[in-house]
Amino acid sequence: MSTIRWTETNTPRSAHWHSESATPPPRRVIGADDRMKADTAYRLACEGTGLLWRGDFHGARRLLQAMSRRIDRKPPRRGDSPAESFHLHRRARGHRARVLGRLLVLLEDDYRLNLRRAPDVRRACIEAYGPQSEPMAVSLTELLGVIGAHQWRTKGVEVPALRARIHPHYGVFSPVRGEYVDLVAHAPLPPPAGPRAGRRTAFDLGTGTGVLAAVLARRGVDHVVATDISPRALACAEENVRRLCLTGRVDVMGPGLFPDGRADLVVCNPPWIPARPTSAVEQGVYDPDGSMLRGFLTALTAHLEPGGEGWLILSDLAEHLGLRTRGELLAGIEAAGLHVVGRIDTRPRHPRAMDAADPLHAARAAEVTSLWRLAAGRRPASAVTGSEPAPAPPPDEDGSASARSTASPAGTSSSA
Ligand SMILES: C[S@@+](CC[C@H](N)C(=O)[O-])C[C@H]1O[C@@H](n2cnc3c(N)ncnc32)[C@H](O)[C@@H]1O
Repeated sequence: MSTIRWTETNTPRSAHWHSESATPPPRRVIGADDRMKADTAYRLACEGTGLLWRGDFHGARRLLQAMSRRIDRKPPRRGDSPAESFHLHRRARGHRARVLGRLLVLLEDDYRLNLRRAPDVRRACIEAYGPQSEPMAVSLTELLGVIGAHQWRTKGVEVPALRARIHPHYGVFSPVRGEYVDLVAHAPLPPPAGPRAGRRTAFDLGTGTGVLAAVLARRGVDHVVATDISPRALACAEENVRRLCLTGRVDVMGPGLFPDGRADLVVCNPPWIPARPTSAVEQGVYDPDGSMLRGFLTALTAHLEPGGEGWLILSDLAEHLGLRTRGELLAGIEAAGLHVVGRIDTRPRHPRAMDAADPLHAARAAEVTSLWRLAAGRRPASAVTGSEPAPAPPPDEDGSASARSTASPAGTSSSA
């Protein structure tokens, strides 16, 4: 663990530094409070100086907003190609995160924030960081993410396909964009064919909150094994399975990708952007070289019962951004000895897809999320080649089929 050092009333002080995105500590740290002008704070943060806040908590939030407005004065330019626009967009987001991340707060050994008008963040911090024994400095932006994640964990995200709420944990992919959940809720299930015929089994790889495993169990799959590489996701999925009274029907295992054995259905919703995540929170969306997608395709046949299907849920945003081609995806499927049984498409309904000012608007507006039904072996002559109609969205509680709330839970990931 690294350390930050600063001087306060002529006394040298130090504290452990914590960053979920593995950002190194600022080399120079000074105290700051409500007397500091936003222009000064912005300049110092741009130069790399950490500002350890000692004033009013709400004053710190206002300063963060003022610094953010100064960053927005210079929006990233659009690139000459979608891939270049994406690259510039990521660079701008990285710059914003670095500058804003230099406003720091000190958490006491019990996660108390010793600032005027500070909220009680102890529960939120224990949930995100675990039990603590020493004071530590974190960026205010990270702490706000931790607080937001606690609120979403407490309140939950409504999942119409489950007629229940899913409670995401900090750093776990949240099903707030529910279109892909509806795909899994409506695609035709393959018939059970394993040694215990009549008993349908499924794997949910990269289960996150456990939402798809829960949907499959509620659809009548007798036994689902859910895995993830992230310990936070495993704990989160366990909790959701328990809340939904699905213990015994859904077993959460990991960390890892495939469990042992075979299943009638293997579902996988991998990160869909082949780019480097900048924090643990982004690991649900970004996978630098598409390793989870590749791992799923390569090992699928060995884990399918005869007649079983693999369901790959994948947005084509990476294709519109020039980061992957459709040909590469199809070649990966073929190279793994699989064929496409069918495909069900849906269009995202989140507000960013409609935001014409977004530098990635063209790609986002064209985005389609598909459920690819894959089976082992060569394509039989009768196999479906085109896409099937998208399933009707399930009605909301008032009976209408409206778009759902798409605000992204802070401290969880749901979009690129
Ligand atoms: C797009 S999220 C999907 C989460 C969940 N299945 C859902 O649909 O809401 C991708 C998930 O895959 C997990 N993941 C990423 N790489 C993985 C790997 N190599 N093995 C297992 N899980 C992985 C992430 O932690 C994340 O929870």
